[in-house]
Amino acid sequence: MSAFTAVDVIRTKRDGGALSDAQIDWVIAAYTRGEVADEQMSALAMAILLRGMTSAEIARWTAAMIASGERLDLSSVSRPTVDKHSTGGVGDKITLPLTPLVAACGAAVPQLSGRGLGHTGGTLDKLESIPGWRAVLSNDEFTAQLRDIGAVICAAGAGLAPADRKLYALRDVTGTVEAIPLIASSIMSKKIAEGTGALVLDVKVGSGAFMKSVEHARELARTMVDLGAAHDVRTVALLTDMSTPLGHAIGNAIEVAESVEVLAGGGPADIVELTLALAREMLTAAGLPDADPAAALRDGRAMDVWRTMIRAQGGDPDAPLATAAEVEVVRADRDGFVAGIDALSIGLAAWRLGAGRARKEDAVSEAAGVVLHRKPGDPVRAGDPLYELRADDGKRIPDALEAARDAVVLSEQAPVPAPLVIERIA
Ligand code: URA
Repeated sequence: MSAFTAVDVIRTKRDGGALSDAQIDWVIAAYTRGEVADEQMSALAMAILLRGMTSAEIARWTAAMIASGERLDLSSVSRPTVDKHSTGGVGDKITLPLTPLVAACGAAVPQLSGRGLGHTGGTLDKLESIPGWRAVLSNDEFTAQLRDIGAVICAAGAGLAPADRKLYALRDVTGTVEAIPLIASSIMSKKIAEGTGALVLDVKVGSGAFMKSVEHARELARTMVDLGAAHDVRTVALLTDMSTPLGHAIGNAIEVAESVEVLAGGGPADIVELTLALAREMLTAAGLPDADPAAALRDGRAMDVWRTMIRAQGGDPDAPLATAAEVEVVRADRDGFVAGIDALSIGLAAWRLGAGRARKEDAVSEAAGVVLHRKPGDPVRAGDPLYELRADDGKRIPDALEAARDAVVLSEQAPVPAPLVIERIA
């Protein structure tokens, strides 16, 4: 007989109390074993969302989620290890150029990534548009690639924080994703279990992000930085703007193509700026503050690592990427400036075009997505293309047009540019 019951744990939190260490350890372990039912965990997640958690509870909850599975041992990797995690945004393909770039500068980047759900894209979905590329590696393949190439992006294995895997799927369908204690413990349990020595967090703020306000994003970032420190993972967070999509491409294959442009020394200014800002933070956290990531982009070293990394997982970096059968161009109805482009509306449009999935089991379209022809601050004349919608199936276009209808706001005056990196939290 257990000393606890799920109902008592739920009642404690429902009534605003703090859960004891023993209650937390028990509820996470029992849920992972299937002894606490999904409906009980849903009720507890909702109580946590409404009542919050103390920092001691969050720390214990995270430790219990790590303990629910294995912890990878990266001690055979001779380079310092450093990873990046983004809380998710629209057009956020930064992992693709950043991972080989940081590896080209001397660190090893163990990047365990996920698939997209809802309006935010997933790194694995994007990379799977490269013919032959394989997301699933064994733990031994993962460690060997990290040792040999210094860069690996792959799916997190089932053995890593299994409590989070179950709980995240439950939160997704019970309206409990947005709780800061649950987001922080979910992200940090996976990153700590992955074995990285240092971590840089890109905490997104704005319409396209989970955190809509700087205050909430700051609280999430502070919670995660403290959890990292408590587990000896040097952790730094940047709060970055997600009110506008990143770059010009929002989709799968088109985001790979844009990432390759950055690795070739070009690409959109915002993608290059954020990639370099995160690379500098990662290299400093890894103990390599003198490395020069801008030079590694210019001289092709980052591109060389990208090609080797893609080939190591079966992908052909030279193979043509999928193209869409249907393209609809949306044009400006007057002269002016682009004042803003709403990230959430564009993310939803890309999702309706087929770039994202509604249920975990759905397949995504490689070619679908939105291409922005103008970015905030750009001047436009009536009739100029603002953006285009791409789909495999033309029947998807009307719904996407509806989602994107008010996304681009035009003004008579040039807008004041908003900073991309809002704040640094260490
Ligand atoms: N990403 C995660 O891994 N977990 C969350 O809870 C939210 C975003």
